[in-house]
Amino acid sequence: MFPSKVYIERRKKLRSELSEGVVLFLGNQEVPFNYPANTYSFRQDSDFSYFFGLDHPDLAGVIDLNEGKDYIFGNDVDIEDIIWMGVQPLIKDQAAKAGVEQTAPLTGLNDLIKNAIGEGRKIHFAPPYRGETILWLSDLLGIPHLELKEKTSEPLIKAIIKLRMKKDVLEVAEIEKMVDVAWQMHTTGMKMAKPGVVEREIAGAIEGIALSQCGPVSFPVILSINGQTLHNHHHGNTLVEGRMLVIDAGCENDLHYSSDITRTVPVGGKFNARQKGIYEVVLNANLTAIKAVKPGVPFREIHMLAATEIAKGLTNLGIMKGDPTEAALKGAHTLFFPHGLGHPLGLDVHDLEGMGENLVGYDEEVIRSTEFGLAFLRFGRKLQEDFVMTIEPGVYFIPELIDVWKAENKLAEFINYDIVETYKDFGGIRIEDDVLVTADGYRVLGKPIPKTVAEIEEIMKYD
Ligand code: GLY
Ligand code: MN
Repeated sequence: MFPSKVYIERRKKLRSELSEGVVLFLGNQEVPFNYPANTYSFRQDSDFSYFFGLDHPDLAGVIDLNEGKDYIFGNDVDIEDIIWMGVQPLIKDQAAKAGVEQTAPLTGLNDLIKNAIGEGRKIHFAPPYRGETILWLSDLLGIPHLELKEKTSEPLIKAIIKLRMKKDVLEVAEIEKMVDVAWQMHTTGMKMAKPGVVEREIAGAIEGIALSQCGPVSFPVILSINGQTLHNHHHGNTLVEGRMLVIDAGCENDLHYSSDITRTVPVGGKFNARQKGIYEVVLNANLTAIKAVKPGVPFREIHMLAATEIAKGLTNLGIMKGDPTEAALKGAHTLFFPHGLGHPLGLDVHDLEGMGENLVGYDEEVIRSTEFGLAFLRFGRKLQEDFVMTIEPGVYFIPELIDVWKAENKLAEFINYDIVETYKDFGGIRIEDDVLVTADGYRVLGKPIPKTVAEIEEIMKYD
């Protein structure tokens, strides 16, 4: 945990954003995997972590805005629990670490909420996303679970987004440590990417690095020679020369700050001419987008800059044609780059996504597009100092999408469909870095992970 003053300060800031009522944070519970006592690894709720820091199940935090008091509710373990779990810190000692003096068993939470409802006070809560929490909240508040979503507190959601989006030096240091572990995960994966190796051998090795150095992976490892499927979690293919291996993987620490990095390498360690051609297009889009990062720039503009660079690069290769700027404006690049440029990163890999993507990533100035491709951009509004964003352009040849577009002759003035046909066996390439927005620009976080053709070919020479 950070020192208690960090959590005290965060709650103070939250209080200054809200006027009255009770703010309720339900921590996460253990979730059964295949029977009640066999649970998934425990993962605390990110908001609970942010404001209270405690990493145990079955806790609730309350901030009483009118009384100016904070509470932790939870039950101390009994002798039966101790037999199985060992001695656990008392709730009051845990709460002290978060700078909270008021503690009570969970029945006290029921009483506090019942009284607050009886007095007609506003209960602020953020959108729940787990079944267990939805049921707990529904019981506590007496609101049918299907109605919880519409009863969430928009002032609370906006305040949480405002606070959590800006990372302080302590948080950046934690994210950066996780990028450094990702360095080891990715360079290990690169060295293992030899013909005959099965994807799961590499996926297991890099997940093991995360587990042995920090916490778990921050999302299920994406690792495939079929990188044209954007989130490919199937790890059963055998690597063959001529394919590119996409590895999209990061990890999180015990405070839950995460990294999210993608690299794509040629199986066997040497780019052929076709692979190098597409790789340089994606690398240029990644570097150009990163250089454009600075406060005040709408992220959607940077996304479109990357899209235009991709259109230019693919035009130079003869895959696209016409004016690349016009092609990108009309969305022709989305046949090859259908997803968004990136997303905020922090306590969640897609930071704050549970609050609602549009509240996090859009505002009155930048409204989310409904166009294919741009609609997948999770974040479009202006960047601010201390945001941490991923920058992750890609180029993919998705045979099924190519067939659909070709059948419609879609945007044929910008696409050489005959040449595209010859790339249907290519797969995909994505290159992703984690970038801090600084006062005058950007800083790519962590120890640089091999990214140029020369750097990748060099590291892949080694076992
Ligand atoms: N790293 C997976 C994603 O950003 O969706
Ligand atoms: Mn990502």
